[in-house]
Amino acid sequence: MKSEIGIGLLGLGVVGSGVVEVLISKADKLAKHVGASLVLKRVLMRDVSKGRAVNLGSHLLTSNVAEVLTDPEIDIVIEVIGGEHPATEYIEQAITNGKHVVTANKEVMAKHGYGLLSLAQKYNVGLRYEASVGSGIPLIATFQQDLASNEIWAIHGILNGTTNYILTQMAQQGLDFPSALGQAQELGYAEPDPANDVEGIDAAYKLAILSSLAFHSEFDAQGISCQGISGLAAQDFRYAREFGYAIKLLAIAKRQADTVEMRVHPVFLPENSQLAKVDGVYNAIQVEGDLAGRLIFYGEGAGALRASSAIIADVLTISRNICRGLSNVLDVQLNQKLEIKPMSDIETRYYFRLSVNDRPGVLAQISKALGDNSVSISSVIQKESDPLAHTAELVIMTHSAREEAVQKALGEVKQLAVVNEVSSFVRVEG
Ligand code: NDP
Ligand code: HSE
Repeated sequence: MKSEIGIGLLGLGVVGSGVVEVLISKADKLAKHVGASLVLKRVLMRDVSKGRAVNLGSHLLTSNVAEVLTDPEIDIVIEVIGGEHPATEYIEQAITNGKHVVTANKEVMAKHGYGLLSLAQKYNVGLRYEASVGSGIPLIATFQQDLASNEIWAIHGILNGTTNYILTQMAQQGLDFPSALGQAQELGYAEPDPANDVEGIDAAYKLAILSSLAFHSEFDAQGISCQGISGLAAQDFRYAREFGYAIKLLAIAKRQADTVEMRVHPVFLPENSQLAKVDGVYNAIQVEGDLAGRLIFYGEGAGALRASSAIIADVLTISRNICRGLSNVLDVQLNQKLEIKPMSDIETRYYFRLSVNDRPGVLAQISKALGDNSVSISSVIQKESDPLAHTAELVIMTHSAREEAVQKALGEVKQLAVVNEVSSFVRVEG
């Protein structure tokens, strides 16, 4: 029976510092749970001279990854450096050196999860990634174990804390986009490259991970249609409220025979729906399965301690198995071959905001372009005429229509001499 489990940490930023804090402050509780002490042996960072949120002896710090990956005293490597490279290669090396791995890296798991899990199987080690989706919300193990008997047919998720925080600040405090993003970065919510949050890429990675667990198929995260929140303006939040909606960045996966509709984009959600009420850094993931029915998982989706909760949970599982001589290998059940449904085939309702010339007959021309493409208007409002520039803002809501038809109609609308620009385009859910 081992008396201690050696831990190597790759990365000492927001999440890495949270992990160290928990390993130190809860050392006794964790040791009792495992039956052995969890001992931090080495910590990798780029710059060992940089000030850190946690104080660690300099003998633990290194900028040489081999000192972590080849240390025989290290049983578990925790990867929290983020990004695709060199994180993927470091995880591969850790596995081939016989080390168990815990990662919070959604990009790596979305792009290389299947290969890495297969490699871990081959080397008889564990690879766990609970923190990669929803931070501290227990989701990965829930799909792997608790929902295993369900046929899942839909996932609707607010999967990115940074963008939900920004949208909430813009809608409720009237904050502009850059200020709200700056706050999210200061709070440690944003990715090292915040474009991943803002453009919906982080949510698409998370959707790919959850979908592969839910539908037992590999999905290419880059094939998921993805639109971020940077194009939204203050008026959109005002109009959404007037129509009785909240704006959220939603990740959607719906199973339909051999295809799965998968997309990430801002949506208008009816303001009395449960997901519309999820504010700030909170995430919520609604799952529909044949046995469990509709479930909603809710909690803070970013931040050092939230992610650490999930990482330490994975470390505890692996450590207990090591101490009891049990296998840590996860069964990779990707036995389905499902395609992502082309975006042009989806059907939903739409909101457009257009800047147009303020003169008679404009609406008739726009309605004709939409009507010619079988896109039917459910309501239209003219707003904020500018008498000097002779321009007006038109806000249009449509009935359910096919994306391909809507895109074609919008292309024609943009060509009209009376239309200055299509300023905003948001799909409506629910
Ligand atoms: P940070 O940028 O705060 O920290 C990254 C750390 O990794 C830094 O200590 C950096 O070193 C180190 N690092 C980066 N690249 C290298 C490299 N090539 N070699 C050695 N060290 C390197 O990121 P976060 O802690 O916010 O995120 C880490 C991971 O956790 C990401 O995958 C992220 O998606 C995930 N995650 C983040 C959450 C959050 O709320 N922030 C929540 C859930 C998951 P140095 O400090 O010297 O520059
Ligand atoms: N940047 C991510 C988010 C961190 O804001 O959701 C958690 O994965």
